Amino acid sequence: MKIIAIIGLIMSSSLVVDKESGMLIDKNWELVKANCTGCHSAPHITSQKNDREGWIEVIRWMQNKQGLWQFDADTENKILDYLTANYGLIDERNVQKIDLASGMVIDDNWELVKASCTGCHSAKIVIQQGADRNTWLEIIRWMQEEQGLWQFDADTENKILDYLSKNYSQSN
Ligand code: HEC
Ligand code: HEC
Repeated sequence: MKIIAIIGLIMSSSLVVDKESGMLIDKNWELVKANCTGCHSAPHITSQKNDREGWIEVIRWMQNKQGLWQFDADTENKILDYLTANYGLIDERNVQKIDLASGMVIDDNWELVKASCTGCHSAKIVIQQGADRNTWLEIIRWMQEEQGLWQFDADTENKILDYLSKNYSQSN
């Protein structure tokens, strides 16, 4: 499933919120604040989730019916970028990035794991396996004993286990 789902969840993201407006502080947020909180407060926006099309509709409706001014294309795009990234149907900050060539999740140490684990068999064998940290270690020990996998120094092994147990802890 991981390959099909270009999106998924990564646990690590720290969000900073502007205390005054309640808006997420992210690229272009001040532009959106300046253009979108003059007639109503930010919770009007932050309580909503729309895809880009949906946000365009909201803006057009406000322009046609509620006195919202026109934006030049660049400004509108920036506003839409911010809105869909932060108040979109998909939380893009949490979108898991997948390396298209291997199908592996792009996360800390993924290139190390790719280099260490895809020389003898495809990444698919790794991706399909779900295991906790101890079981991943057992699999590595088994490959080292039976399948000719080389030894890793402790630091490298820890990084590999960090990546595997974080991203492939469950069967796919
Ligand atoms: C010129 C005034 C004005 C500005 C500026 C403005 N809005 Fe609005 N907006 C309104 C009015 C009026 C309403 C409808 C009355 C209400 O819900 O309070 C509204 C309603 C909304 C709603 C609720 C829509 C719904 O379906 O209930 C959202 C979401 C929204 N605005 C987002 C934005 C965003 C995003 C921006 C910046 C691009 C923005 N507004 C800028 C006037 C404005
Ligand atoms: C030196 C070659 C080699 C390297 C490098 C290698 N493996 Fe393997 N691995 C094998 C062989 C051989 C098998 C068993 C044959 C098969 O299933 O294709 C295997 C099987 C597996 C399996 C399936 C185990 C099972 O129970 O069926 C997993 C999971 C796995 N490897 C993960 C990894 C990971 C993670 C790494 C990197 C730390 C890695 N492999 C690096 C040779 C290797």
